[in-house]
Parts: sequence; C-alpha cells; structure tokens
Amino acid sequence: MLSLRSSTITKTLHKYSPRSGLYRFASTWANVEQGPPDAILGITEAYKKDTDPKKINLGVGAYRDDNGKPYVLNAVRKAEQKLLNDKLDKEYLPITGLASFTKEAGKLAFGADFISSNGGNIVISQSISGTGALRIGGSFLGRFYPHAKTIYVPTPTWGNHKAVFSDSGLGVAQYRYFDKNTNGLDFNGMKEDILNAPKNSIILLHACAHNPTGVDPTPAQWDDLSELLKERSHFAFFDMAYQGFASGDIDKDAYAVRKFASDGHQVILCQSFAKNMGLYGERAGAFSLITSNPKEKAAVESQIKILIRPMYSNPPVNGARIASLVLSDPALRSEWLSEVKDMANRIITMREKLQNHLVNDFQSKKSWNHITDQIGMFCFTGLAPDQVTIAPQNTFKAERLTRDFHVYLTKDGRISMAGVTSHNVKYLAEAIHEVTK
Ligand SMILES: Cc1ncc(COP(=O)(O)O)c(C=O)c1O
Repeated sequence: MLSLRSSTITKTLHKYSPRSGLYRFASTWANVEQGPPDAILGITEAYKKDTDPKKINLGVGAYRDDNGKPYVLNAVRKAEQKLLNDKLDKEYLPITGLASFTKEAGKLAFGADFISSNGGNIVISQSISGTGALRIGGSFLGRFYPHAKTIYVPTPTWGNHKAVFSDSGLGVAQYRYFDKNTNGLDFNGMKEDILNAPKNSIILLHACAHNPTGVDPTPAQWDDLSELLKERSHFAFFDMAYQGFASGDIDKDAYAVRKFASDGHQVILCQSFAKNMGLYGERAGAFSLITSNPKEKAAVESQIKILIRPMYSNPPVNGARIASLVLSDPALRSEWLSEVKDMANRIITMREKLQNHLVNDFQSKKSWNHITDQIGMFCFTGLAPDQVTIAPQNTFKAERLTRDFHVYLTKDGRISMAGVTSHNVKYLAEAIHEVTK
C-alpha cells in the first residue's frame, strides 16, 4: 500500500524519460514565464555592450559630472569622513529610522516653520529611498484610506509608479498631463480629469522636476490645483524625488508641497535623497503623512510600524546618518546647497547648449524651445518612438538615434540631461538633428 502510494507520488513529481527509461525530476519552476527586462536598466545593458567610443547613455536618471562620471558630493564625502572618525556602532535603527534624519527631512520638505508649529501632527518615517516611501504610502492607503482604492497618476509618469501602486494593492488610473503638441503641460486636461475623478480620489503629484517630461505646473497653477483638490476633497500624494534639481533651490522646488500643507491638505509626501545628495545606493528616503492631532499621529505611526516591520524590519543606517549630518551641520549644509545648485546649473547649461547647437549650428527648422523650457533631470524630446528605437521593418530609415549614433534613451523619447556633457553635447545635437530633419 505504502509503496503503491509513494510510486504514484514519484510519477507526479518526476517526468519519465523514454531515452534513459528513468523518471527525471520536473522542476517546480518550469512554468515560470520569462519576464520582460526592466525598461531603463535594459538600456544600460545594451549601452554597456556597445563598443563605439561615441556612445552616450541617456537612459538612466543619475547625475554625471562634465566628464560623464558619477559624482559624489564633497559635503557627502566630508560627512562620511566624520562618521568614520566617530567609530559609530552598527546597531539596528528603530522601525521608523533615525530620528535626527527624519526631523531634518521634514524641515527640508515642509520648511522649518511649518514643522515647528505642526510637527506634533506629522508622522515621518525613514524609508528605503523614494521607492520605499511610495510603497509605504501605497500600502497604508490600501489598508486605511476609507474612500478609494485607486490612485490617479499623470500621463506619462515615472515607469515604476504603476508597479509600486498595484503591488501595494491600489488600482491605478490616469489623468492628462503632457501636451504632445506643445511639449508642455496640458493644464486644462489635467484640471478636467482631476475635477471629474470621483470625490475623495487619491491624486499622485510630482512635487517638482516631473519625470519623465521635465514639465511642472507654475506656482500659480499649483495654487489652482490646491483649490481644486480641496473642492473635490481629493487626497494629495506627493512624490518629491528631485528637490533642488528643478531650479537649484531647495525652497523653490518645495513650493507645491508647502502650499498644499499650508492650505490644510493632509498630504502624503515621499522624499528621496538619491538625486539631490547623490546617495543613490544608500537608499535614504522619507515618508511623511500629515494628521490632524497628536492622537491621530500616534495611531497612524503605530500602523506605519506594523506595515514596515514585516516588509524590511528597519531601514539602513548609513545613508540616513550621512544625510542627517549634511542637513544639520551648518558648514556641510551650505556646501551641499551650493553643490545642488551646481548640479542643477550644469544641467541647465547643457539644455541651452543642446538647443543652441540644434538651432544655430545644425540649422534645425524646429525651435527646440522645450529643451530649455523643461526642467530637472530629464528632457522629453518629443522624438517619436520610431526615431529612437530600431525598427527592423523600417531599414530604409537609416537615421535611428540608437543604431546609428549610439545614443541610448528610453523608448518614450526621454533623455537624461545629466548624461549630457560639454564633450558630447554637439554630437548629440547632430544626432537628434539627423533623425528629425
Ligand atoms: C519620480 C520618481 N519617484 C521616485 C523615484 C525613486 O527613486 P529612489 O527610490 O532611487 O529614491 C524616482 C527615481 O528615479 C523618480 O524618478
């Protein structure tokens, strides 16, 4: 009886091979389908394989210096040295992270005054950079937001938003944002879609330096949006991954978040220190939520802890220590602020040069004004997909940016301006001109 049963089990778990006459082990994972490569990281893979010396990687959103090299900020290097000298321990952080870091992160985003008068109502937790903050926000709303289980994101938006929110258990809907005809903001379309969303909807807003379009509302438009969201009782969910990168001024870039907070919106805010402090791999970020009183704050914070604990237990300490020190030490802070300005200015200069080469050197018939009108790390070039990607069926279209010019960018025509340098900008302009003339 026993042997009969075990033999049945054997035949279920093992595949019979007629060649050897034996039962072979059938893998548990045989039915797992190959997934597509990550849209952005796949570009870097292709770029690495390209042996052409002129190749340019404009796919990834990471700052590069004018020699195309990753840049570690001086303020960060100095903070690291100090932390090393302090010979700190490596004990676990609390679930919500390093208190000195979250306090500084809150002041940076909302402003010191707002924190000193409202800090008692704001839950701030350290997160695994900006992505982790988005995930905390998505999961918290999925569990506790009583009015809706769908988040509205702009069209287009950062490629990972949809995956983060749907993996958090939220439905994802879209509102109009980018106007292809003007390469600018479709403000009327945006307002109309937000107005028509059911009352109490969750609206994701890029606080500044919108990714991928580089197009932000003006301060006056943010004022309108704040009113509109209030009118519809919508919930504002801010993603601020680029504070300082839009204008070079961290206060200017925080306009939208501060306006909404002072207008009484109980916003969620997701902050990243990847870009503005160059702490990409350190995964330093913060999640904030404004509540209406200390009792509510305590309850929400307890639930945030319950949510984080089974996800990753507690956050990494090193990046938070660096960011906390840079933000709180007056000399390091002022050096950091000037480095943020330098990074933003280098990008702005590259935008001007790219447009200038296109219009003046290559006599492009297009104005390319949107290159300089857009802000932040990215430029949404407006290049149609078939001008960017290799389309084998269109072999007659020889001028493909990637194939013929070794310029790597995402399929939607987004280029990371941070990868443009004074050495490659003219070549890039020539390549863009060739595929668009
Ligand atoms: C709009 C936006 N949000 C969030 C992030 C998250 O970045 P990180 O998790 O590296 O902080 C990014 C990164 O590219 C982004 O562009």
